[in-house]
Amino acid sequence: MALLFYSREDDPQAWRAALCARLPDLDFRIWPELGDPGVIETALVWRPPPGLLASLPNLRAIFSLGAGIDALLADPTLPDVPLCRMVDPSLTRSMSEYVLTLVLFYHRRLDLYAEQQRSARWRMEMPRPASDTTVGVMGLGELGGDAARCLAGRGFRVRGWSRRRKRIAGVESFAGKAELESFLAGLDIVICLLPLTPATEGILNAELFARLPQGACLVHLARGAHLVEQDLLDAVQRGHLRGAVLDVFREEPLPAEHPFWRHPRIRVTPHSASYSLPETGAEVVADNIRRLRAGRPLRHVVRRERGY
Ligand code: NAP
Ligand code: GLV
Repeated sequence: MALLFYSREDDPQAWRAALCARLPDLDFRIWPELGDPGVIETALVWRPPPGLLASLPNLRAIFSLGAGIDALLADPTLPDVPLCRMVDPSLTRSMSEYVLTLVLFYHRRLDLYAEQQRSARWRMEMPRPASDTTVGVMGLGELGGDAARCLAGRGFRVRGWSRRRKRIAGVESFAGKAELESFLAGLDIVICLLPLTPATEGILNAELFARLPQGACLVHLARGAHLVEQDLLDAVQRGHLRGAVLDVFREEPLPAEHPFWRHPRIRVTPHSASYSLPETGAEVVADNIRRLRAGRPLRHVVRRERGY
């Protein structure tokens, strides 16, 4: 069985080594050296060019190197075979680590101290307990669920918002559109970890920001198209929002002239919140390849009709 690997960001040789250690008979091909497309039965990809997967006539399954599969679903030629997203301990761990880092950044007022440093101002804020800070996590799936658990474990007051209600120790669960407003009221920090779907595109907008208390902060780690950029700039400019950390953008890399780069209350990170390490991610992919070979159901299959 041949597998085609495509990613501009992940190291193909590291993935080859990790996957072939688990499946020694795997014929691992790295784009653009794909040889006869007719022998390729699986593809392991991150943001492949539209049409690439459709050019593989005997493709049986697509494995995403990322958790979010919005870019794959946006390809109108995407073959109608099982599409499995990445659910992997290293991806989850690194995301929760990033969430905790950024929550602590705001909770311990490092944004304020950075501002004070610009004018050589020495004024300390008495540290407050974590239980004084309410954090809301939008999306309580593999990543948001773990991040919420991790924040609750550190003593923060935590709320989560998802389509269906969840039971997570220490996390107050809000479900569906009807409970969005009460979820947002009283948050000090809101984290976005939603998948990008028609229902969530543009969800971080003026109306949502207006539902947050004055002085709330946004940590956006999901997809650029969740955010209405001008609405964020307005909300921060008016002082309604204290600030934002953005890891994802409508256009990546973020163009040099974009106002986010130079805004004193907006911090930009280069889509770096979380990645899957081959050492652990390969086990997830290998398991699915074994399942495919044995005719058993695959894991982490995307439900295309709901978009995640
Ligand atoms: P997931 O397991 O599919 O979880 C998605 C969560 O969002 C679920 O709790 C789901 O609710 C909820 N949700 C979906 N649509 C909703 C809606 N319309 N209203 C309310 N809640 C909704 O996804 P994941 O693995 O946690 O990944 C989340 C996203 O993180 C990815 O799609 C990707 O965009 C982003 N991501 C970013 C990075 C980075 O480096 N910046 C890295 C990895 C992933 P239910 O549980 O009720 O279904
Ligand atoms: C990264 O953004 C992912 O979806 O895994």
